[in-house]
This record gives sequence, structure tokens and C-alpha cells, in this order.
Amino acid sequence: MSTAVLLVVEDDPAQREQLVGFLRSAELGQPVLVREAGEAAAARAALDAGGVDAVITDVRMPGDDGLDLVRWGRERHPLVDFVVVTAYGSVEIAVEAMRRGAHDFLTKPIDLDLLEQRLARLLEKRRLVTEVRRLQERLHERVGAAGIVAESPGMQAVLGVVRKVAPTDATVLVTGESGTGKELVSELVHAWSRRHDGPLLRINCGALPESLLESELFGHVRGSFTGADRDREGLFQQAEGGTLFLDEIGEISPAVQVRLLRVLQEKEVRPVGGAQPTRVDVRIVAATNRDLEADVAEGRFRQDLLFRINALAVGIPPLRERREDITALIPILMRRFAESVGVPPPRLARDAHDLLLSHAWPGNVRELANVLERSVILATGDEITALDLPPSLRAATPSAALAEADGDGRSLPEIVATIEQRAIRRALAEHGGVKARAARALGIPERVLRYKLKTYGLDATKTSGSRRERRSDEPGSA
Ligand SMILES: Nc1ncnc2c1ncn2[C@@H]1O[C@H](COP(=O)(O)OP(=O)(O)OP(=O)(O)O)[C@@H](O)[C@H]1O
Ligand SMILES: [Mg+2]
Repeated sequence: MSTAVLLVVEDDPAQREQLVGFLRSAELGQPVLVREAGEAAAARAALDAGGVDAVITDVRMPGDDGLDLVRWGRERHPLVDFVVVTAYGSVEIAVEAMRRGAHDFLTKPIDLDLLEQRLARLLEKRRLVTEVRRLQERLHERVGAAGIVAESPGMQAVLGVVRKVAPTDATVLVTGESGTGKELVSELVHAWSRRHDGPLLRINCGALPESLLESELFGHVRGSFTGADRDREGLFQQAEGGTLFLDEIGEISPAVQVRLLRVLQEKEVRPVGGAQPTRVDVRIVAATNRDLEADVAEGRFRQDLLFRINALAVGIPPLRERREDITALIPILMRRFAESVGVPPPRLARDAHDLLLSHAWPGNVRELANVLERSVILATGDEITALDLPPSLRAATPSAALAEADGDGRSLPEIVATIEQRAIRRALAEHGGVKARAARALGIPERVLRYKLKTYGLDATKTSGSRRERRSDEPGSA
């Protein structure tokens, strides 16, 4: 167990000696080290030197009194607790001491048993607070990482870099193709930084016209342009003490690039139309799916700005280079989507899994999530097969549709009927069972669809989707 450091502040040497002696042998639940000071100035020096957990101070002393010491100490050393000892009966002083942030007060002559009890409780509370803080930090770490699937060596390397850069205040540039998880990684940089309790604000720099983006970022003063009817703080000020995530930074105009560079260099923002700069303490994380080096070469992006934001770069590899992540993401995402629609997660057939693994995923994790969501929602059985996956995935491998027709000894009309039934079920599910729309999607007249439903025995109740059938199996839903 760690040693607590107590500081006794008392101008009367005899009383000080008695108190210090008592505390050194008191039962406080943990080992203590007792320091002493005969006046407020010496106490302040001891506090500034660091390491003190709690101060026991007299009120009336030559020079600054104990109440001044409390006020100063609570501001300068907010983690230190103060116990004030007042002369008997001076309720006003006790009240004032508490108002100034003292943790506790005792009256003179000091009841030593009571002092022992109160200090023991105070130290125990401090231990709990420290413990909670430590657990919270670990929790942040785990929750932060838990949201990100990182089974592949590529993603492990990304997390390794993030772990190193997060605690610094350096600007981080996250690069990667669309949908690779740039935003998720930026959130992790914030979550693992000492700013994690501060704000994390995000702006998509590609979504706003130049003038709006400027006033969003830097704020503006009243009257600086038509419609600016009052002063407005920009995101830099709103993110004070936290992190500002500049998404799609490659899209910002040359004028905004200049302003941004100045803010990064000087750590001050000047609102649009304003003369007075304000100091800001904000950590910048930027993201882009562009090749900024190429943009620099072609004069679209300032080299000095790139230098500044690119000091620490985190490059996320495309999903097609992270097969382990695909395999890990599939069950997680399927379970999530199944939960959100309230069905048991369907199984994934071998052919579907192979197809998912071999696809190039130009839209990366976002595309994979979309495909799985759609398949879970549209699944007509409790298994997702390659045929349940979007045609765009299958296009690359015509074998999927052919496999259905291949080598199982069925006649061509039987095979066609099977494929036709699947297509009809899927179209109906996709259009909420509305036949007119399903027919349109299938490119056949509604009359023909009705006829086929009848001949295949797919009447309304049966085609309303396995979703409802599965639900009616659940207890209590009948
Ligand atoms: N490693 C991962 N583990 C779990 N989910 C992920 C992972 N990577 C991305 N995702 C999910 O994929 C989706 C896209 O991720 P994100 O928005 O972070 O990508 P992005 O790189 O910012 O995309 P864009 O360039 O289109 O803005 C999100 O729903 C995100 O939660
Ligand atoms: Mg993004």
C-alpha cells in the first residue's frame, strides 16, 4: 500500500510537535509520512514541491492565515484535501473554511481520537477515488478497443501506432480508403488520450462551402457578413480541452488552408471579422481518403500544412488486405443486425462465406456492413447462402448461380423453378410483401406474379417472410 503524505501547518511549536508526533503513530489505515510547516509560506512551498495528499492547518497564524492557504491550495493543488483546525466556538470560521473548499474542520483543543477517525476516512476516500480513476482509465482502453475489430496484422499495427500517438498532443493524420474505419480510429485517438473527458467534435470539411466552413471552424463576430447577427464561437473554441476531428481535410480550399495553418502554428484562433485572437488548447485529428502528397505535387494542397498535420500518420489498410478482419467482422455484424431487427442471427453458408472473403470490397468495412445488413434483413431462411448476397458480389463469380444448377440430377425446369421462387421471395421481402412493387422489381406484370405465387403455392401467408414465421415460434408471441 502506498504511503500518504500529511502536512501539518501550525505556528505554535509545542502544539505542532504534539500533533506531528500523534499522527506519526496514528492508525490511519495506511502508512503515513508527516511533514510540518510553521507558517503559510512554508506550507505553500511544501505543496508546490509536490506529493502532499492532505493538509491539517491552523487558522490563526502570523502572515497569511489558514483560510487563505485553503483558498490558494484548492486552486493550485485541487487534488489535495484540507482539514482546518479552528479555535473552539468559531462557527463562522468553520463555515468560511468549508466554503473555500476545505474537506473537514475540527475545533481546538483537538480531540485526537476524532482526528484519527476523520483522517482515516479521508484517506480511505482518496484511495477509492484513485482506484475508480484507475479503473475508468482501463475501461476507456478496453471499451475503446472493443469497438474496433483488429484481428489482422495490418489493423494490429494501426492500434499499435494509435496507442503510441494518442497520449501526445500531436496532430494525427488518419488515411485510408473510404469506409476503412478512419472515423473509428480518430475516436480511439481521443479515447486513449488524456483529453478523453473533454469534447470530441467532428466536422466534414468537404460538406460545406468555404465561407461557412471558415465561420464553423473559427467562429465569426457580429456583422462580419450578411446574416451574422451575433458573435459565434467556432469549433476550435468549442473543442477547448478536447479533440477536433477534421474529416475529409483534403477538400478544404486554399484560403481555409492558410487560416488553418496559422491556427496550428500559433495555437490561436481569430474569428472571421474579428481582430482579437483567442488562445485554444485543441488536439487535431484529420482524416482523408485522398493522396495528399499528390495533391501537393499538383498544387491543390499546401505543403507546409501537410507537413504540420502529417507529423504522425496512421494509415489504415484496405479491407481486402485484411482477410482476418473480414472473418472476424462477419459474425459480429450479423449478430448486431439480427438483434436490431429482432431475429436470431442466421447462419452463413460456406459458399456465402467464400464469396465474402474473395470480394475486393472497394467500400471496405462500410460496404461489408451494408451487404450483411441487407442479407440478414432479406434472409428467407435461417441460413444465408451465396444467392442471398447482392448480385454485385456474385457478378464476379458466375459460378454461384450455376452451382445451383450443377450436378445434382435435377431437371432444367426444376432448377429454373427453384431459382424463380427464390427471386420472388426475395423481391417480396424487399418490398414489404407489396406484390405490385415486387412485380415491378422483377420486371414482370403483377398478374404474372400472382399466377406464379399460386402455382408455386407461395400464397400470402407463406411469402410474408421467414421473419414473421420465425417470430411466431418464439414463446408468448402467438
Ligand atoms: N475495424 C473495424 N471494426 C469494426 N467496425 C468497423 C471497423 N472499421 C470500420 N468499421 C465500421 O465501418 C463503418 C465505416 O467506418 P468509418 O466511418 O470509420 O470509415 P471512414 O474511413 O471514416 O469512411 P469514409 O472515408 O467513407 O468517411 C462504420 O460503421 C464503422 O463502425
Ligand atoms: Mg469518415
